[in-house]
Amino acid sequence: MAVAELSPSSSYTKTTFQYSSKLSYVSTRLFNHHRVHYRPLPTSQNSRIVCSVTSNEVQAPVAVKTEDTKKKPECYGVFCLTYDLKAEEETKSWKKMINVAVSGAAGMISNHLLFKLASGEVFGPDQPIALKLLGSERSFQALEGVAMELEDSLFPLLREVSISIDPYEVFQDVEWALLIGAKPRGPGMERAGLLDINGQIFAAQGKALNAVASRNVKVMVVGNPCNTNALICLKNAPNIPAKNFHALTRLDENRAKCQLALKAGVFYDKVSNVTIWGNHSTTQVPDFLNAKIDGLPVKEVIKDTKWLEEEFMEKVQKRGGVLIQKWGRSSAASTAVSIVDAIRSLVTPTPEGDWFSSGVYTAGNPYGIAEDIVFSMPCRSKGDGDYELVKDVMFDDYLWNRIKKTEAELLAEKKCVAHLTGEGIAVCDLPGDTMLPGEM
Ligand code: LMR
Repeated sequence: MAVAELSPSSSYTKTTFQYSSKLSYVSTRLFNHHRVHYRPLPTSQNSRIVCSVTSNEVQAPVAVKTEDTKKKPECYGVFCLTYDLKAEEETKSWKKMINVAVSGAAGMISNHLLFKLASGEVFGPDQPIALKLLGSERSFQALEGVAMELEDSLFPLLREVSISIDPYEVFQDVEWALLIGAKPRGPGMERAGLLDINGQIFAAQGKALNAVASRNVKVMVVGNPCNTNALICLKNAPNIPAKNFHALTRLDENRAKCQLALKAGVFYDKVSNVTIWGNHSTTQVPDFLNAKIDGLPVKEVIKDTKWLEEEFMEKVQKRGGVLIQKWGRSSAASTAVSIVDAIRSLVTPTPEGDWFSSGVYTAGNPYGIAEDIVFSMPCRSKGDGDYELVKDVMFDDYLWNRIKKTEAELLAEKKCVAHLTGEGIAVCDLPGDTMLPGEM
């Protein structure tokens, strides 16, 4: 799910953002762990990162907007025409228009997703939509290409399209923010480096959301490493409920359902109650203990425990990497489909007895998972955009040990981005096998 196309330094040079990636970087190898410390450079006057802060101060890289934060992004082409939407809302009994922001809008995932959003398949056939597209300077021309294709598609429900490279413009009054744009890990880049670069993007976007988005905006973080990016984003948006932030693990759930269906010889619509626990990484835990096939516990249908514990687990954890080998790039279409699934799970009531997975904030979770991280867990929704955690799930030693491993990874990632969440000096001591699904 990592998508190219944002670079913190180039994305915002035309705006009044002030970024600082001026961090000292110390790296040492320790046993199986890779330890990296980030500290602010002591001398630079422009450095806006101050790491020695108390835990209640959020001191992420400062994205200072000095202009009027109420500025609207430029509308695009045919979408600039004026028309009486209110009258149409009444005659067609349409709902009030919603504003949806998409970052990384010129990328591959968005190229699938935007047309689904505009068609009505996500929010429903009575829901007019305004799409607010966030790109980078480098991708701006491609962004215009996307807007032109949206024009030419004549979607009746698509009422506004605007494009910009400034998150303060794009996030103005948005009810949904789908944060897809992120930098993929390049050759030779440390994982800590990726966490830092993308973390800065998500810290800046969190601040922008905090300043201008709807107070009840729902935020779906897709750009990797999505759990920790979501944590950074929510820490930088203290005026938006932490519960509103999601990290996309629905793709992993879909992948797990497909593998279970294949093994059981049933169509995948027979597989339910699949939880992905933890991080969207190779430590994620696809839960076969609580999952069902045709209403029966998976273990009653698939008796091959060795397959479940080894092959199934690894297949789901590494599916992203296998896809990259086949395609030469990250999954795009299936990621877009899973974003649609994830949104629909929040705007339609969850079927009786079932649930869905989403990476959400752990504060107050009933399972005993560490507080204050973003962790994929089983959720149910009444269809109002909100969710509650499912309480009646079982754990056995196998499942719990795996959960502890992915939890440890997320806690290590959290320490590694402390300079972006207001928790002081970052110390990166990542387990050696910490990897995105796409890394083999
Ligand atoms: C995926 O799960 O397909 C992606 O997140 C893979 C990746 O690492 O980009």
